[in-house]
Amino acid sequence: MSHLFPKWMNHLPTAGALAAVGGLTFVSVAGWYYLTPDFWRVGYQPKQPVAFSHQIHAGQLGMDCRYCHTHVEESYHANVPATSTCMNCHTVVNQTTGYLKKAVSADGASPSAHWVSKDLALVRESYDGGRPIEWRRIHKAPDYVHFPHSAHLKAGISCYSCHSRIDEMPVVYHAKGLGMGWCLDCHRQPEKHLIDTSQIRVTDLRVVEQQLKSPTQIESGKALKEKAGLLPPQHCGACHY
Ligand code: HEC
Ligand code: HEC
Ligand code: HEC
Ligand code: HEC
Ligand code: HEC
Repeated sequence: MSHLFPKWMNHLPTAGALAAVGGLTFVSVAGWYYLTPDFWRVGYQPKQPVAFSHQIHAGQLGMDCRYCHTHVEESYHANVPATSTCMNCHTVVNQTTGYLKKAVSADGASPSAHWVSKDLALVRESYDGGRPIEWRRIHKAPDYVHFPHSAHLKAGISCYSCHSRIDEMPVVYHAKGLGMGWCLDCHRQPEKHLIDTSQIRVTDLRVVEQQLKSPTQIESGKALKEKAGLLPPQHCGACHY
């Protein structure tokens, strides 16, 4: 049963290959394929109520993902931060971070772009009014799927493997399909993705990307898998209720 969605199906796009399958199978296979998450989910990028940029915060400022996604390592679900987390910086920023230089012009009069930022005004409004910012959800597993974040991070799978270079995204988009075939691809061959967490942080996406693309990855991934005795489940009950 674990071959329900065999690997070759990932490479079905050409009409030629499909035509060879013929007739009725053509219709159902094509229907299945085009409805597959890679087609309708990858690239999904809703407009957020506040133009928050991971490229600025996680990229340029080098903030660790866990500063905001505080529970991702311990819990089943990742969390999106409350406005109070933003206010750690966006209230005092003019005192402490060098922002003050930007906040006041040379003659001490005009407010900076920072303080007239429409987006930061929304952040402060949310905080003052005690109303959470209504971030739109991007990645969402169906209710019948069991997906624990913590188990993956503990095993040495980086955010990079599943969400790509979030630290380079001015606006987050859905980079991977997160469909069943995608889960199983890695469960069959986790060595392509395992990193040594005593050397590399799972949240250091740039370094992780370099490691996963290096020619030594498969070998080191296999060694890590062996050492930790990892056996990613492939039976239906592991991922389905
Ligand atoms: C300063 C706080 C902050 C930091 C640091 C941060 N994030 Fe986020 N993250 C957010 C906020 C706020 C959202 C919701 C708005 C959005 O989607 O941009 C979010 C959304 C996301 C989402 C999409 C959530 C969904 O709805 O599916 C992912 C995935 C994500 N972050 C991963 C990361 C990763 C990986 C890092 C580290 C490289 C990181 N974040 C660093 C605040 C942060
Ligand atoms: C560690 C400090 C820190 C935290 C925490 C933080 N920010 Fe920022 N934020 C900054 C800095 C520094 C900039 C860079 C501004 C610049 O270069 O002009 C910035 C820029 C921004 C901007 C762009 C401002 C503009 O000019 O329009 C927005 C919007 C923003 N942050 C929203 C948020 C939100 C929402 C959160 C919480 C999820 C958050 N920030 C958390 C430090 C922080
Ligand atoms: C093995 C793949 C995988 C890894 C590794 C992974 N994620 Fe996710 N992430 C997912 C999936 C799948 C979802 C959708 C889960 C759901 O709906 O329950 C998701 C959802 C999220 C969300 C949205 C949660 C929400 O409630 O809005 C955030 C934020 C997030 N991930 C952040 C991260 C961060 C940060 C890391 C690294 C520290 C990370 N993820 C590592 C696969 C992964
Ligand atoms: C990039 C690789 C990768 C991807 C993608 C991935 N997994 Fe995993 N998964 C692993 C590894 C490694 C383990 C840990 C196995 C272990 O601890 O023995 C694991 C373990 C699990 C477990 C068992 C957790 C436990 O507590 O024992 C479940 C359930 C699971 N994954 C579900 C999913 C689902 C659902 C998806 C797709 C939405 C997914 N995984 C995508 C690598 C991956
Ligand atoms: C590693 C985790 C994992 C395992 C193991 C797994 N599934 Fe799934 N399955 C998923 C995910 C994730 C989805 C949701 C796909 C999506 O988001 O559209 C899914 C979706 C489905 C669907 C819905 C139809 C569809 O294509 O969307 C069926 C039916 C299904 N799985 C049956 C099975 C059966 C039968 C088995 C055992 C042979 C199994 N699954 C094993 C992760 C898994």
